[in-house]
Amino acid sequence: MRILNFGSINIDYVYRVDQFVKPGETKTCQSLTINAGGKGLNQSIAAARAGNTVLHAGLIGSDGQFLADKLNLAGVNTSLMARATGVSGHAIIQVDDDGQNCILLYGGTNKQLDETYIDQALERFGRNGLVLLQNETNLVGYIIAHAHQRGLKIALNAAPYGPMLHDYPLDLLDWLIVNEVEGAEIACCSEIDEILPALRARYPKLNILLTLGKRGARCLCQDQLTTIGSYQVQAVDTTAAGDTFTGYFLYGVLHDLPIEASLKLATAASALCVQKVGAADSIPAKTEVDSAIEQDLLGPLGRGV
Ligand code: RIB
Repeated sequence: MRILNFGSINIDYVYRVDQFVKPGETKTCQSLTINAGGKGLNQSIAAARAGNTVLHAGLIGSDGQFLADKLNLAGVNTSLMARATGVSGHAIIQVDDDGQNCILLYGGTNKQLDETYIDQALERFGRNGLVLLQNETNLVGYIIAHAHQRGLKIALNAAPYGPMLHDYPLDLLDWLIVNEVEGAEIACCSEIDEILPALRARYPKLNILLTLGKRGARCLCQDQLTTIGSYQVQAVDTTAAGDTFTGYFLYGVLHDLPIEASLKLATAASALCVQKVGAADSIPAKTEVDSAIEQDLLGPLGRGV
Protein backbone atom coordinates (compact mmCIF):
# COMPACT_ATOMS: atom_id res chain seq x y z
CA MET A 1 0.00 0.00 0.00
CA ARG A 2 1.37 3.41 -0.98
CA ILE A 3 1.95 6.22 1.54
CA LEU A 4 1.16 9.88 0.94
CA ASN A 5 2.96 11.90 3.60
CA PHE A 6 1.75 15.49 4.05
CA GLY A 7 4.92 16.02 6.01
CA SER A 8 6.97 18.82 7.48
CA ILE A 9 10.31 19.55 5.88
CA ASN A 10 12.96 21.34 7.93
CA ILE A 11 16.50 22.57 7.79
CA ASP A 12 18.01 21.31 11.05
CA TYR A 13 20.66 23.48 12.71
CA VAL A 14 22.25 21.07 15.15
CA TYR A 15 24.35 22.48 17.98
CA ARG A 16 26.42 19.99 19.95
CA VAL A 17 26.62 20.99 23.65
CA ASP A 18 27.78 19.26 26.83
CA GLN A 19 24.49 20.23 28.51
CA PHE A 20 21.42 22.11 27.27
CA VAL A 21 21.57 25.88 27.66
CA LYS A 22 19.65 27.08 30.74
CA PRO A 23 17.39 30.15 31.06
CA GLY A 24 19.53 33.29 31.24
CA GLU A 25 22.71 31.42 30.26
CA THR A 26 24.95 32.07 27.26
CA LYS A 27 26.83 29.03 26.08
CA THR A 28 29.38 28.22 23.40
CA CYS A 29 28.60 25.05 21.48
CA GLN A 30 31.12 22.40 20.40
CA SER A 31 29.98 22.26 16.78
CA LEU A 32 27.26 23.20 14.32
CA THR A 33 25.98 20.98 11.51
CA ILE A 34 23.21 21.81 9.07
CA ASN A 35 21.13 18.81 8.01
CA ALA A 36 17.91 17.83 6.30
CA GLY A 37 15.21 17.08 8.86
CA GLY A 38 11.62 17.66 9.86
CA LYS A 39 9.45 14.90 11.26
CA GLY A 40 7.71 14.63 7.89
CA LEU A 41 10.87 14.38 5.80
CA ASN A 42 12.44 11.94 8.27
CA GLN A 43 9.35 9.73 8.28
CA SER A 44 9.15 9.69 4.49
CA ILE A 45 12.79 8.65 4.29
CA ALA A 46 12.38 6.02 7.02
CA ALA A 47 9.26 4.61 5.34
CA ALA A 48 11.02 4.52 1.94
CA ARG A 49 14.21 2.97 3.34
CA ALA A 50 12.03 0.33 5.00
CA GLY A 51 10.60 -0.58 1.60
CA ASN A 52 7.36 1.41 1.27
CA THR A 53 6.34 3.36 -1.82
CA VAL A 54 6.21 6.94 -0.51
CA LEU A 55 4.96 10.18 -2.04
CA HIS A 56 5.79 13.31 -0.09
CA ALA A 57 3.53 16.38 -0.21
CA GLY A 58 4.67 19.63 1.36
CA LEU A 59 6.09 23.07 0.72
CA ILE A 60 9.65 24.35 0.66
CA GLY A 61 10.99 27.89 0.31
CA SER A 62 13.71 29.09 -2.05
CA ASP A 63 16.30 27.76 0.43
CA GLY A 64 14.88 24.24 0.41
CA GLN A 65 15.94 22.56 -2.84
CA PHE A 66 18.49 20.37 -1.01
CA LEU A 67 15.63 19.02 1.13
CA ALA A 68 13.72 17.85 -1.95
CA ASP A 69 16.97 16.40 -3.33
CA LYS A 70 17.48 14.49 -0.09
CA LEU A 71 14.00 12.97 -0.33
CA ASN A 72 14.53 12.03 -3.99
CA LEU A 73 17.85 10.42 -3.24
CA ALA A 74 16.17 8.24 -0.63
CA GLY A 75 13.65 7.03 -3.21
CA VAL A 76 10.76 9.25 -2.12
CA ASN A 77 8.53 10.56 -4.91
CA THR A 78 8.51 14.38 -4.64
CA SER A 79 6.30 15.15 -7.63
CA LEU A 80 3.57 16.53 -5.35
CA MET A 81 5.89 18.93 -3.52
CA ALA A 82 5.73 22.63 -4.33
CA ARG A 83 7.56 25.90 -3.70
CA ALA A 84 6.10 28.72 -1.59
CA THR A 85 7.30 32.22 -0.84
CA GLY A 86 9.23 32.65 2.38
CA VAL A 87 11.77 30.40 4.01
CA SER A 88 11.51 26.68 4.62
CA GLY A 89 10.76 25.38 8.09
CA HIS A 90 13.76 25.05 10.35
CA ALA A 91 14.70 23.56 13.69
CA ILE A 92 17.30 24.67 16.20
CA ILE A 93 18.44 21.48 17.88
CA GLN A 94 20.75 21.09 20.86
CA VAL A 95 22.25 17.63 21.26
CA ASP A 96 23.99 16.97 24.58
CA ASP A 97 26.74 14.53 25.58
CA ASP A 98 24.15 11.82 26.32
CA GLY A 99 22.74 12.09 22.79
CA GLN A 100 19.48 13.64 24.05
CA ASN A 101 18.03 16.60 22.16
CA CYS A 102 15.82 19.61 22.64
CA ILE A 103 14.26 21.25 19.63
CA LEU A 104 12.95 24.71 18.78
CA LEU A 105 10.83 24.81 15.63
CA TYR A 106 10.08 27.56 13.13
CA GLY A 107 7.22 26.46 10.85
CA GLY A 108 8.14 28.51 7.73
CA THR A 109 6.57 27.13 4.57
CA ASN A 110 5.35 24.02 6.46
CA LYS A 111 2.58 26.28 7.79
CA GLN A 112 1.49 27.57 4.38
CA LEU A 113 -0.48 24.57 3.10
CA ASP A 114 -3.85 25.63 1.69
CA GLU A 115 -6.99 23.70 0.85
CA THR A 116 -6.48 23.86 -2.92
CA TYR A 117 -3.01 22.39 -2.67
CA ILE A 118 -4.24 19.63 -0.34
CA ASP A 119 -7.25 18.75 -2.52
CA GLN A 120 -5.05 18.54 -5.62
CA ALA A 121 -2.47 16.35 -3.91
CA LEU A 122 -5.18 13.99 -2.63
CA GLU A 123 -6.77 13.87 -6.08
CA ARG A 124 -3.46 13.05 -7.76
CA PHE A 125 -2.65 10.39 -5.17
CA GLY A 126 -5.88 8.49 -5.81
CA ARG A 127 -8.04 6.39 -3.55
CA ASN A 128 -5.82 3.54 -2.49
CA GLY A 129 -3.24 4.05 0.22
CA LEU A 130 -2.40 5.57 3.56
CA VAL A 131 -2.08 9.26 4.38
CA LEU A 132 0.61 9.99 6.97
CA LEU A 133 0.65 13.20 9.01
CA GLN A 134 2.58 14.86 11.82
CA ASN A 135 1.70 17.97 13.80
CA GLU A 136 4.30 20.29 12.26
CA THR A 137 2.13 21.58 9.39
CA ASN A 138 -1.10 23.56 9.29
CA LEU A 139 -4.52 22.18 8.22
CA VAL A 140 -3.93 18.73 9.73
CA GLY A 141 -7.62 18.42 10.68
CA TYR A 142 -8.67 19.33 7.13
CA ILE A 143 -6.37 16.69 5.65
CA ILE A 144 -7.72 14.02 8.02
CA ALA A 145 -11.33 14.83 7.12
CA HIS A 146 -10.72 14.91 3.36
CA ALA A 147 -8.50 11.84 3.25
CA HIS A 148 -11.22 9.99 5.14
CA GLN A 149 -13.87 11.15 2.64
CA ARG A 150 -11.76 9.59 -0.10
CA GLY A 151 -11.60 6.27 1.71
CA LEU A 152 -7.89 6.51 2.47
CA LYS A 153 -6.34 5.03 5.60
CA ILE A 154 -4.81 7.65 7.89
CA ALA A 155 -1.95 7.60 10.42
CA LEU A 156 -1.17 10.65 12.55
CA ASN A 157 2.04 11.00 14.49
CA ALA A 158 0.75 13.64 16.91
CA ALA A 159 4.15 15.26 17.36
CA PRO A 160 4.82 17.79 18.66
CA TYR A 161 1.88 18.11 21.04
CA GLY A 162 -0.21 21.29 20.71
CA PRO A 163 -3.71 22.10 22.00
CA MET A 164 -5.05 22.15 18.42
CA LEU A 165 -4.78 18.34 18.47
CA HIS A 166 -7.97 18.24 20.54
CA ASP A 167 -9.84 19.86 17.63
CA TYR A 168 -8.77 17.33 15.00
CA PRO A 169 -11.21 14.53 14.07
CA LEU A 170 -9.03 11.86 15.67
CA ASP A 171 -11.89 9.36 15.51
CA LEU A 172 -11.31 9.17 11.72
CA LEU A 173 -7.75 7.89 12.11
CA ASP A 174 -6.66 4.31 11.62
CA TRP A 175 -3.45 4.85 13.59
CA LEU A 176 -2.49 7.37 16.25
CA ILE A 177 1.23 7.38 17.00
CA VAL A 178 2.33 9.18 20.17
CA ASN A 179 5.11 9.27 22.70
CA GLU A 180 4.30 9.43 26.40
CA VAL A 181 4.16 13.25 26.52
CA GLU A 182 1.84 13.55 23.53
CA GLY A 183 -0.23 10.57 24.64
CA ALA A 184 -0.73 11.93 28.17
CA GLU A 185 -1.70 15.38 26.86
CA ILE A 186 -4.20 14.06 24.32
CA ALA A 187 -5.67 11.55 26.78
CA CYS A 188 -5.65 14.19 29.58
CA CYS A 189 -3.98 11.89 32.08
CA SER A 190 -0.72 11.85 34.01
CA GLU A 191 0.28 8.19 34.25
CA ILE A 192 1.69 6.17 31.34
CA ASP A 193 -0.58 3.23 32.21
CA GLU A 194 -3.66 5.41 31.83
CA ILE A 195 -2.87 6.59 28.28
CA LEU A 196 -4.01 3.63 26.19
CA PRO A 197 -7.21 2.91 28.19
CA ALA A 198 -8.18 6.61 28.13
CA LEU A 199 -7.58 6.93 24.38
CA ARG A 200 -9.39 3.65 23.71
CA ALA A 201 -12.42 4.81 25.72
CA ARG A 202 -12.60 8.06 23.76
CA TYR A 203 -11.79 6.65 20.29
CA PRO A 204 -12.95 3.01 20.29
CA LYS A 205 -11.86 2.20 16.71
CA LEU A 206 -8.42 3.75 16.87
CA ASN A 207 -5.24 1.66 16.71
CA ILE A 208 -2.59 3.27 18.89
CA LEU A 209 1.19 3.06 18.96
CA LEU A 210 2.69 4.49 22.15
CA THR A 211 6.48 4.86 22.03
CA LEU A 212 8.33 5.04 25.34
CA GLY A 213 11.96 5.70 24.37
CA LYS A 214 14.40 3.43 26.21
CA ARG A 215 11.45 1.60 27.81
CA GLY A 216 10.20 0.37 24.45
CA ALA A 217 6.69 0.69 23.03
CA ARG A 218 3.11 -0.47 23.45
CA CYS A 219 0.68 -1.07 20.67
CA LEU A 220 -3.07 -1.43 20.94
CA CYS A 221 -4.40 -2.85 17.69
CA GLN A 222 -7.95 -4.16 17.43
CA ASP A 223 -8.10 -4.61 21.21
CA GLN A 224 -4.88 -6.64 21.27
CA LEU A 225 -2.10 -5.12 23.41
CA THR A 226 1.47 -5.90 22.35
CA THR A 227 4.51 -4.56 24.20
CA ILE A 228 8.18 -4.51 23.33
CA GLY A 229 11.31 -3.38 25.18
CA SER A 230 14.33 -1.76 23.58
CA TYR A 231 17.90 -2.59 22.67
CA GLN A 232 20.35 -1.08 25.19
CA VAL A 233 22.67 0.64 22.71
CA GLN A 234 24.88 3.68 23.32
CA ALA A 235 23.04 6.70 21.88
CA VAL A 236 25.08 9.48 20.28
CA ASP A 237 22.05 11.40 18.89
CA THR A 238 18.41 10.45 19.42
CA THR A 239 17.13 12.90 16.76
CA ALA A 240 14.79 11.12 14.30
CA ALA A 241 14.63 7.92 16.39
CA GLY A 242 10.86 8.33 16.74
CA ASP A 243 10.52 9.11 13.02
CA THR A 244 12.51 6.00 12.16
CA PHE A 245 10.27 3.96 14.44
CA THR A 246 7.17 5.33 12.69
CA GLY A 247 8.43 4.68 9.14
CA TYR A 248 9.53 1.13 9.89
CA PHE A 249 6.46 0.28 11.97
CA LEU A 250 4.21 1.38 9.10
CA TYR A 251 6.17 -0.87 6.75
CA GLY A 252 5.26 -3.83 8.95
CA VAL A 253 1.62 -2.84 9.26
CA LEU A 254 1.19 -2.12 5.55
CA HIS A 255 2.86 -5.38 4.60
CA ASP A 256 0.68 -7.44 6.95
CA LEU A 257 3.48 -8.42 9.32
CA PRO A 258 2.29 -9.40 12.79
CA ILE A 259 2.36 -6.44 15.20
CA GLU A 260 5.13 -8.10 17.23
CA ALA A 261 7.35 -8.35 14.14
CA SER A 262 6.51 -4.77 13.09
CA LEU A 263 7.50 -3.51 16.55
CA LYS A 264 10.75 -5.48 16.49
CA LEU A 265 11.69 -4.11 13.07
CA ALA A 266 10.92 -0.54 14.21
CA THR A 267 12.82 -0.99 17.48
CA ALA A 268 15.90 -2.34 15.71
CA ALA A 269 15.78 0.47 13.12
CA SER A 270 15.67 3.17 15.81
CA ALA A 271 18.43 1.47 17.81
CA LEU A 272 20.62 1.80 14.71
CA CYS A 273 19.45 5.39 14.16
CA VAL A 274 20.49 6.64 17.62
CA GLN A 275 24.01 5.36 17.11
CA LYS A 276 24.61 7.88 14.31
CA VAL A 277 24.48 11.68 14.35
CA GLY A 278 21.91 13.64 12.38
CA ALA A 279 18.25 13.25 11.49
CA ALA A 280 17.51 11.91 7.99
CA ASP A 281 21.14 10.84 7.57
CA SER A 282 20.97 8.53 10.56
CA ILE A 283 18.04 6.45 9.30
CA PRO A 284 19.24 2.94 8.40
CA ALA A 285 18.46 0.95 5.25
CA LYS A 286 16.27 -2.16 5.56
CA THR A 287 19.22 -4.43 4.76
CA GLU A 288 21.12 -3.03 7.78
CA VAL A 289 18.11 -3.52 10.03
CA ASP A 290 17.51 -7.07 8.81
CA SER A 291 21.13 -8.09 9.34
CA ALA A 292 21.22 -6.42 12.78
CA ILE A 293 18.25 -8.57 13.79
CA GLU A 294 19.40 -11.78 12.08
CA GLN A 295 22.98 -11.55 13.37
CA ASP A 296 21.95 -10.33 16.84
CA LEU A 297 24.14 -7.23 16.49
CA LEU A 298 22.12 -5.08 18.91
CA GLY A 299 22.38 -7.27 21.98
CA PRO A 300 19.40 -8.57 23.93
CA LEU A 301 15.99 -7.00 23.39
CA GLY A 302 14.59 -5.81 26.72
CA ARG A 303 11.16 -6.91 27.88
CA GLY A 304 8.30 -4.49 27.31
CA VAL A 305 6.85 -2.56 30.24
O1 RIB B 1 11.94 14.28 14.99
C1 RIB B 1 13.11 15.00 14.71
C2 RIB B 1 12.79 16.23 13.91
O2 RIB B 1 12.00 17.10 14.69
C3 RIB B 1 13.97 17.05 13.51
O3 RIB B 1 14.54 16.63 12.30
C4 RIB B 1 13.44 18.47 13.51
O4 RIB B 1 13.40 19.06 12.26
C5 RIB B 1 12.05 18.38 14.14
O5 RIB B 1 11.06 18.46 13.22
